Amino acid sequence: MKILISGGTVINASGPFAADVLIEGERIAGVVEANSSASTSWRESADQIIDATGLYVVPGAIDAHTHMEMPFGGTHSVDTFETGTRAAAYGGTTTIIDFAIQSKGKSLREGLDAWHAKAEGHCAVDYGFHMIVSDVTESSLKEMDLVVDEGVSSFKLFMAYPGVLMIDDGLMFKVMQKAAALNALCCIHAENGSAIDIVVAQMIAEGKTQPHYHALSRSPKAEAEATHRAIALADMAGAAVYIVHLSNEYALDDLKFMQARGAKALAETCTQYLVLSIEDQMPGKSWEEAKFVFTPPLREKRHQAPLWGALADGSLAVVSTDHCPFRFADQKELGRGNFTKIPNGGPGIENRLQILWHFGVNAGRITPEKFVELSSTAPARIFGMGKQKGAIAPGLDADILLWDPNVDYTISAATQCMATDYSMFEGWKVKGNAAKVFSRGELVVDNTTQPGKFLGATGRGRFIKREANAGGFA
Ligand code: URP
Ligand code: ZN
Ligand code: ZN
Repeated sequence: MKILISGGTVINASGPFAADVLIEGERIAGVVEANSSASTSWRESADQIIDATGLYVVPGAIDAHTHMEMPFGGTHSVDTFETGTRAAAYGGTTTIIDFAIQSKGKSLREGLDAWHAKAEGHCAVDYGFHMIVSDVTESSLKEMDLVVDEGVSSFKLFMAYPGVLMIDDGLMFKVMQKAAALNALCCIHAENGSAIDIVVAQMIAEGKTQPHYHALSRSPKAEAEATHRAIALADMAGAAVYIVHLSNEYALDDLKFMQARGAKALAETCTQYLVLSIEDQMPGKSWEEAKFVFTPPLREKRHQAPLWGALADGSLAVVSTDHCPFRFADQKELGRGNFTKIPNGGPGIENRLQILWHFGVNAGRITPEKFVELSSTAPARIFGMGKQKGAIAPGLDADILLWDPNVDYTISAATQCMATDYSMFEGWKVKGNAAKVFSRGELVVDNTTQPGKFLGATGRGRFIKREANAGGFA
């Protein structure tokens, strides 16, 4: 099957250009100047021609930080790999990287197998895994070789959640040394969990149990301290490090300081930290604020401008979602009267591109090519998928969005595909949305003719084996 996308403006991270794109089967067969002789001959042999006049042709987005069916606080995040990857597709995300968890006392093998079993045959779009290492032993360190061999080339380590996922500095350092030897990337949840737990206990003892105090209990300084420590330890170990969900200006300062010293340090922020705040979403007035309990928490508004600045200047490399959805009605409810029992996480996978485009590109904070870099090209490169995904280029997977920069869209739980009973952006009006979404050459979403309908088969998404390339530093 040959599909010609004609008359659009291709946007890669390197910039925009008017071009026609030929899809052949699952791959991009060619990209040529519009109205060139090659384009004319493609037109004659194409099975289908799609008129992309007025649209941008951009690489399918990659969300490098999701948690489908994740166990947390006695419940599970509510999106399955099926519903969560459908929601991804609706929003223009054609690849996710989720987190497989090694439970305490279990092997990496068992953790990875469990996540393969959850995902295989259920995903709407392509997927990969990071491996969370929560029980560092000689045996799990040895297992890191086979995990990388199987295409899981990044490990996540937690400096927060003592007693559950947190590991101490010595163990973290051992994993980093091993990761360095394997060219694997260390993804770090950077918060000083021990200090935070003391503050949390003090707040609960003082009767400060509402969701608002979740945010206040986790200081931006605890995140900054851990960010610095993680990068310093990775630097000592010779490992490349990627700080996940960086949320505030202090942590950003430490990141930039270590980057300037030559550390192999990268970081992402997430949509929510760019547009939501304590002042607007968590002022301490109602139980509804439980909808915004995630970790790190929302910050004061003044942290947003530095994050946008860091996206524009390249010190922050990626925008992900940390999609970890729980229903408000019954799951968030578990923590009424005690914020420590509110399952941590929020729904976001469907809205990342809309938010990034509207508040980034439309607001003049980032260029369209930066939008592509942050949502697709950088995660593909950093996570070892650059030979398959992340650009509109011959030979790569035909993961392609036809992006309409002029369409108005209202975000609402009533129309979303994510399985939560609320949206973090309820009623927000944005300009810019995916008109058509191709995943490996197949039209899986067409918002122009069949909005709200997934056009592909359940389970069509494939596991992507990722190369170990030390976050692109290798
Ligand atoms: O609140 C969050 N972020 N939940 C998911 C787990 C994590 O720390 O990323
Ligand atoms: Zn985390
Ligand atoms: Zn997360």
